[in-house]
Amino acid sequence: MTIKLSRLRRHENLRRLVRETELNAADFVYPLFIKQGLKEKYPITSMPGQYQLGLMHLEEEVHHITKLGIPAVLLFGIPAHKDQQGSSACDPDGIIPQAIRKIKSIAPDLLIISDICFCEYTDHGHCGIITTDNHIHHAATAALLAKQSIIHAEAGCDIIAPSGMIDGMVKTIREGLDNAGFQSVPILSYAVKFSSALYGPFREAAEGAPKFGSRAAHQMDPANQREALREVRQDVAEGTDMIIIKPAAYYLDIIRQTRDHFPEIPLAAYQVSGEYAMIKAAAEAGWLDEKKTVLESLIAIKRAGADFIITYFAKDAANWLHSGENSCNS
Ligand code: PBG
Ligand code: ZN
Repeated sequence: MTIKLSRLRRHENLRRLVRETELNAADFVYPLFIKQGLKEKYPITSMPGQYQLGLMHLEEEVHHITKLGIPAVLLFGIPAHKDQQGSSACDPDGIIPQAIRKIKSIAPDLLIISDICFCEYTDHGHCGIITTDNHIHHAATAALLAKQSIIHAEAGCDIIAPSGMIDGMVKTIREGLDNAGFQSVPILSYAVKFSSALYGPFREAAEGAPKFGSRAAHQMDPANQREALREVRQDVAEGTDMIIIKPAAYYLDIIRQTRDHFPEIPLAAYQVSGEYAMIKAAAEAGWLDEKKTVLESLIAIKRAGADFIITYFAKDAANWLHSGENSCNS
């Protein structure tokens, strides 16, 4: 008797019956870059198809996103004013609080996740308060992150997503939210964020590149796998409700290990700007089939163990899935 595994692959409906992983519009979170005072949508060169938006562009954008069945957006703000402390980040009338109120007035059910960090708000481009020896002051930064979180929650944000890899940030933010009456607002922490070259295009999009030095002294070393589990364990202990692993496709082993070691924690993966740019560039050159490559990348991330995916392809993927394209190899 020969075992012929190909017997179950001979027809599309047979493949559908035995398919182990399925993509769905409900799996996606779409990131938005919102810039204070922007009048015209500004195309991001290194991320073809993605734009910086002004407040007035949100209405059309949000209608489009909800029509596609995407459940959540992730907001990044670019303020008009930057300084050493990133003071615009704690302005109750800053760009993100304004955007949150606007989105809630257009689509109250669309979940708003707000990225909590200071690199878009500081003139030096680092993720928090810098000490005299040019390192991040973690405790001082965590206190400011809690302040920023409360302001976003007051504006109506649904989920707080601290992205700075600051020690103790989850605990400090949780305490701050609870004391301000926001016990029901969950935290989605970027528990595992590697110091990655793949954030390059994002730094153009969010105008938050560090003016000196790098983020290697607080983001994770791409060489480390066991350390990622320590990061997750720490954030879970501090009270995070969900976690993010970032980037996604170069770190599928980290996603799988985390899923196996922490089966109970909802897990998101962030397919970052560089992952988007690489696929876009190859597709534009005619070297890769964009739709197939994108769906394959997303199915791989989900198969590795992610419950949901933050991706700049969210709208395209949702569109393709709605038009009946529910696998990457059919
Ligand atoms: C900032 C932040 C970054 C990303 C999300 N939040 C960049 C960084 O740490 O430099 C990257 C997202 C992407 O590349 O798409 N804290
Ligand atoms: Zn940052």
